[in-house]
Amino acid sequence: MTTKRTYRSAAWFGKHDKDGFIHRSWMRNQGLPADVFDGRPVIGICNTWSELTPCNAHFRTIAEHVKRGVWESGGLPVEFPVMSTGESNMRPTAMLYRNLVSMDVEESIRANPIDGVVLLCGCDKTTPSLVMGAASCDVPALVVSGGPMLNGKYCGQDIGSGTDVWKFSEDVKAGVMSLEQFMDAEACMSRSAGHCMVMGTASTMAAMVESLGIALPYNAALPAVDSRRYAMAHLAGRRIVKLIEQDVRLSHILTRPAFENAIRVNGAIGGSTNAVIHLLAIAGRVGVKVSLEDWDAIGREVPTLLDLKPSGRFLMEDFHYAGGLPAVIRTLGESGLINRDVMTVSGKTLWENCQDAPRWNSEVIRAIDKPLAESGGIAVLRGNLAPDGAVLKPSAASPHLMKHRGRAIVFDSIEEYKTRINDPTLAVEPSSVMVLRNSGPVGYPGMAEVGNMGLPPAVLKQGVTDMVRISDARMSGTAYGTVVLHVCPEAAVGGPLAFVHEGDFIELDVVARRLHLDITEEELARRRAAWQPPATPHQSGYVNMYVRHVEQADKGADLDFLRGCRGHAVPRESH
Ligand code: FES
Repeated sequence: MTTKRTYRSAAWFGKHDKDGFIHRSWMRNQGLPADVFDGRPVIGICNTWSELTPCNAHFRTIAEHVKRGVWESGGLPVEFPVMSTGESNMRPTAMLYRNLVSMDVEESIRANPIDGVVLLCGCDKTTPSLVMGAASCDVPALVVSGGPMLNGKYCGQDIGSGTDVWKFSEDVKAGVMSLEQFMDAEACMSRSAGHCMVMGTASTMAAMVESLGIALPYNAALPAVDSRRYAMAHLAGRRIVKLIEQDVRLSHILTRPAFENAIRVNGAIGGSTNAVIHLLAIAGRVGVKVSLEDWDAIGREVPTLLDLKPSGRFLMEDFHYAGGLPAVIRTLGESGLINRDVMTVSGKTLWENCQDAPRWNSEVIRAIDKPLAESGGIAVLRGNLAPDGAVLKPSAASPHLMKHRGRAIVFDSIEEYKTRINDPTLAVEPSSVMVLRNSGPVGYPGMAEVGNMGLPPAVLKQGVTDMVRISDARMSGTAYGTVVLHVCPEAAVGGPLAFVHEGDFIELDVVARRLHLDITEEELARRRAAWQPPATPHQSGYVNMYVRHVEQADKGADLDFLRGCRGHAVPRESH
């Protein structure tokens, strides 16, 4: 005989007293019959729907499909909203609010009669923030991503979110595209529900959760408008009930081998540099040791198999039709690059999910011996300019700039860059190294995606398409170029980037993993001693708390007091 488990929600709905009355009665104003409070599991559907987050604007429909699966499996679904961080609208950057949303998620779960959650994620920061929050509660959880938009179509060509905005913008500056054509391309780029359909941060994070094992197979690439995504949401509703019944919590799935798989998958898909920060932060919530060095050591030998923009040619829709992420994982696994036995939310191991996955198009998903790039991982650079590390994505960089020495052009802010960059008297040449500082977690604040500074018109008109750029900022996962990012420590807290003078020589050597400011130790010490931290205008409010507590990018840019798991113990009664 099996004994029915008592779930956490019974502490609310299972009481036959005044408190139980309050908890049930108000819920019943939504038309719920009495027997749904019979001790069945309660599933929170954590929804980042918002019309200000266009990538997630279709999420109420997805939530309805999750509910079907929950009801069908004997659970009680309850949809709840959390703050939604839309990358295309939020200023100064959605990243400033990732940690705030994680708090919203964590506290919403813990404070409510919730036994497990389905996390509806899409636009860039919505995925890490929801996973971080749920991980700090350590409840059973499963991610359903919203899926990418259909391919953009413009003048007979496929165009990709973000990636082609950067390109068109440079084309306008170089005089090869008119402003009218530029404006026309707007509607052609975003023509269906869904998130950016290049291998930007949203697509990368959808692939990360699938490879970590906390989303169902094919979660990453199924287009948002494909009916099979709704079917997946339905199945997710069924699975979360099973995960709760079997008490399979996030900490059981988010293990060190699962993170190793995700790091290798990131290399194979040419994933966004932002995944480095987000996975470090998620690992910090579940107490798994993952370091910046792991990204280089584990991912270094992984070839990029996916020929997707911004590193390659195709888009997410093509990726799904070519076989989706299971085909990539199978290819890696057949070469010994996947920890096969890690458990996933499907109830099977990652390898059981992917071992028979077909690959339909070997142009989009390359064979392991015909990769897009031999070394697809993230390069972690160090040197006197980045003592705690900096990152570069080799597959999106120019081979001829991987070893480079040039004179620095320094911008103290992105506003200064925008003011000076079009100045025809700017002393810049193709070999110059563009440096942007005060754009890190504390300095911006929030570490905006401004690291991929556009090239000066004078250089573009020479037909040059890439220059070395260095900053303590991030860059959009949709962007490309020889861009060194996440320099740690950042300038605003006294990192060496603060001490670069215009005209200094900087040396980049990606193979040697070196980033060096070519001045003497004595001169560096002299400049450090003379440095004054920039004044912060944030005397109160959330941003004040953020700048006082945010950690550096090499640790995941989480708030120091949010690290770790605080569990899901039932809080004391409210009345
Ligand atoms: Fe939302 Fe790119 S703007 S995913």
